[in-house]
Amino acid sequence: MDIKRNILLNPGPATTTDTVKFSQVVPDICPREKEFGDVMEFVSKELTNFVGSNDTYTTILFGGSGTAAVEAIISSVVDDGKVLIINNGAYGKRICEMADIYNLNYIEFECSPIEEINLDELEDIIKMHNSDDNSGVGISHLAVIHHETTTGILNDIGLIGELCKKYNIDMIVDAMSSFAGIPINMDEMNITYLASSSNKCIQGMAGISFVIANKEALIKTKNIKPRNLYLNLYKQYIYFKDNYQMRFTPPVQVLYGLRQAIIEAKEETINARYERYKECCKVLWTGLDKLKLRKLVSEKASSMLLTSIIEPQICRYNFNEMHDFLYNRGFTIYPGKIASKNTFRIANIGQIYPENMLKFIELLEEYFTQLQVSYEE
Ligand SMILES: Cc1ncc(COP(=O)(O)O)c(C=O)c1O
Repeated sequence: MDIKRNILLNPGPATTTDTVKFSQVVPDICPREKEFGDVMEFVSKELTNFVGSNDTYTTILFGGSGTAAVEAIISSVVDDGKVLIINNGAYGKRICEMADIYNLNYIEFECSPIEEINLDELEDIIKMHNSDDNSGVGISHLAVIHHETTTGILNDIGLIGELCKKYNIDMIVDAMSSFAGIPINMDEMNITYLASSSNKCIQGMAGISFVIANKEALIKTKNIKPRNLYLNLYKQYIYFKDNYQMRFTPPVQVLYGLRQAIIEAKEETINARYERYKECCKVLWTGLDKLKLRKLVSEKASSMLLTSIIEPQICRYNFNEMHDFLYNRGFTIYPGKIASKNTFRIANIGQIYPENMLKFIELLEEYFTQLQVSYEE
């Protein structure tokens, strides 16, 4: 059977291979059977292998979208300490909302969504809150987004991890749109908890959210009073460790899809996938230059997995019309998410290739030519 190939240039769910799509067509199975437990054990261990050793880290699976994994960490691992949350986009802001809902003691470090995080300022905030506020409560955790999908900026979690090590802080990383797309080493980067989902750079289907946790730190959370039922990280970990089952009904077929996506990611390797994504990005950027479209974030600060593009000042330009023009030709694009500037976003994750980006640029040129924009020098 042929499945129409759509090129998704939205930041996930991403374009998948047909083999991943077809891998979900399996005989019905009760997820409490050992045969299915073997699938989940494979998925959990291999997800860990992409970023660390199974001796030190473990992957805890939940049914849910990516937000579930972030919320599982935020609601489960902080006791009476203080969380420093870096907010340089909508997803950092979302972690602050979670901290509010769970009534955590937190500090919001709000910084520019389009410039690199100022690490001196960050260190000053850590020092200030560790010593000067007389509360006796130091910063126990720091939460940061790796790839801020709001704009496409890549936060330097290596350097932030060094600060966390220096001040003995557990680092929480939302790596939703970077895991399996950009190489990450949890040990070297000093990451204690990492969150991601099945439908972005790992190139599976939507429906599974996962946390990769340092086991030693996770075990220490055992006596924290659960703040919710479904998302408690320690309880989900213990149940899975003993049974290779999730506590609640898992998205069965999505797990088969994820198993296949993992096999394909291992075959490609994360390093080669990152190179492929960057090649796609370079084609995009060359095309944008030709079409005189400007990028919101500098090339140096960019993830090269997503580009925010400033909307052109052309009187007949209309995002929805441009979207429909491209959608009808098999390419899905995404609106911007930043309030201060009108932008739209192009992601280059998923099973896509430089030639797909070249075709996309040709279509974009065709759209703008229709508006009687001329690119002749
Ligand atoms: C960095 C980041 N965090 C969290 C999320 C939320 O994921 P979901 O929409 O799957 O809940 C996203 C989604 O794009 C994201 O990019």
